[in-house]
Amino acid sequence: MSKQTQIRRTTVPQIVARKGGEPIVSLTSYHAHTAAIVDKYADFILVGDSLGMVMHGMESTVGVPLDLMIMHGQAVVRGTQHALVVVDMPFGTYEESPGVAFRNAAKIMKETQCGAVKLEGGKRMAETIRFLTERGIPVMAHIGLTPQSSNVMGGFKTQGRDEEGWAAIEEDAIAVAEAGAFAVVLEGMVEPLAAKITKSCPIPTIGIGASVECDGQILVLEDMLGLNEWTPKFVKVYGNLGPAIEGAVKAYADDVKSRSFPTEDEVYR
Ligand code: KIV
Repeated sequence: MSKQTQIRRTTVPQIVARKGGEPIVSLTSYHAHTAAIVDKYADFILVGDSLGMVMHGMESTVGVPLDLMIMHGQAVVRGTQHALVVVDMPFGTYEESPGVAFRNAAKIMKETQCGAVKLEGGKRMAETIRFLTERGIPVMAHIGLTPQSSNVMGGFKTQGRDEEGWAAIEEDAIAVAEAGAFAVVLEGMVEPLAAKITKSCPIPTIGIGASVECDGQILVLEDMLGLNEWTPKFVKVYGNLGPAIEGAVKAYADDVKSRSFPTEDEVYR
């Protein structure tokens, strides 16, 4: 007997169908509680490997292990019911060969129950994207500024400043689409290039520091909530949570020190 699930999530074909239509709303999320809030408004939630920097204080995403992505992926899937959950494949788990990529992507999908994986790279990853999608794993691609390659790129640098480099980036977008990616993140590239790619690429483009013309947008949740001391310049900060949390922690510390900490007769009402 099969177990029927009540959960009806956004599907990969529904995301694909939004090409050129209503903009796709997306945010990153790493835990069950924030994901439950984001789930009310986002079409897809990305469990990004940015969690290495945002949650775990790493210098870059290069050190993020697969098991950490799986643990956060499980939390986000548990906390959500509607959004498609996409989990990032961390550095070193997919570049070597399509076979290695399949093994690790299948592990992510089985252990988290997410709906898709994301990996970085354009033309050079096309063969792997085809291998995964032909075997049942939906892939979101990620081109332009690819943080896992920051050591090669010499940091986090906006791509396409020199117009001569545009063709190669546009070819990356077409290559991942032809290989079967269902959407492509355009990160950190000059606005006219991202707008141009959005016109020529047949799959939805998801912008981050790219263009309003993209088919959707994504931000790192903690950036837009004002939780990080530093945020990229392009990020509109919608919340002021850092100072709000500090204010609450200070008020608590003051209460404890002045012995005015409220207690209840009933434990855990
Ligand atoms: O890891 C991440 O959060 C990402 C987004 C910035 C697109 O890849």
